[in-house]
Amino acid sequence: MQPFVSRNISLVEHLARDIVDGLSEETNKKWIKPRYLYDQIGSRLYERICDQPEYYPFRTETGILKRFGHRIFKFMNGDVTVVELGSGNSAKTRILLSTLLEIQKRVFYLPIDVSQEILLKTTHDLNREFTRLDTFGIAADYSEGIREACNISARNVTMPEKKFVLFLGSTIGNFEYQEAVEFLISLRESMQAGDFLLLGFDLQKDVKVLEDAYNDRLGFTAAFNLNLLSRINRELGGEFSLTNFRHLAFYNTEHHRIEMNLISKTTHEVYVNSLRRSFSFIVNERIHTENSYKFTLEAMRNIIERSGFRIAENFLDHDNLYCVSLMVADN
Ligand code: AVI
Repeated sequence: MQPFVSRNISLVEHLARDIVDGLSEETNKKWIKPRYLYDQIGSRLYERICDQPEYYPFRTETGILKRFGHRIFKFMNGDVTVVELGSGNSAKTRILLSTLLEIQKRVFYLPIDVSQEILLKTTHDLNREFTRLDTFGIAADYSEGIREACNISARNVTMPEKKFVLFLGSTIGNFEYQEAVEFLISLRESMQAGDFLLLGFDLQKDVKVLEDAYNDRLGFTAAFNLNLLSRINRELGGEFSLTNFRHLAFYNTEHHRIEMNLISKTTHEVYVNSLRRSFSFIVNERIHTENSYKFTLEAMRNIIERSGFRIAENFLDHDNLYCVSLMVADN
């Protein structure tokens, strides 16, 4: 079996259409979808963000997986196939895979990510690193990817039927409430009753801790945000000057979310060659680029129970910063 497949990912036409829609909005209503943060450069910058001392979600989630790995697998009776949504470089997943390899003779791992380059490298590295692990990378968006993962496991009789789906890194926080529910409902539909989902999400906490996490001292989050404009320059022939914009991230206490924006420092116009049009910005105008919701355990329980899952156990760190929830697909 080829260890890699690619399905319909990040077409430049989608980017073009979304940029026209988002940047044609009136003043202070402009937006760029957060999914465009993750081209090859953006994905690398995100890895750097995860290493920053201010960005607690990554290391806290990693700590939870290290501490509770064995307990998580105790819930599973029999072998599982691991499927991961938004796997990136699978850094944290290595912890779970090593734990699972102590329990299962052979482990099948199907990581799904939109970043083809990172996925190719990860698939290759993991297959060399672990002898009893079969990694099969799927470059696709989540819904296409999960469909492909189901097809692959249905075709391969040696893969355990029971799925253990991972959705880590608090990516659920980048969805709006209704989107999160709909996403989990459609994920549930592609799973069988009794399959498991491990979901990582960030908890509400002190505003300073939250704001520092999205304004790291070395500026990797700012570079990650500004890379959206560089991406338009690279892929659509945009003429954005990055020095005309600055990064702004703050906590919106009413909506319990970090809001990430790019702020225009001057009044100016930017031409985008392949779109054959320009977009205008006034001084201090913002382009909204990401929401990152922070939850209470109650709020997340509500989302989970509306989506056809049941919580088996919530795993938290000592400071209650972050939660990893093990859920079972209900009948
Ligand atoms: C991927 N996602 C959960 C990250 C977050 O914390 O919302 C993306 C990110 N944005 C800025 N820093 C990290």
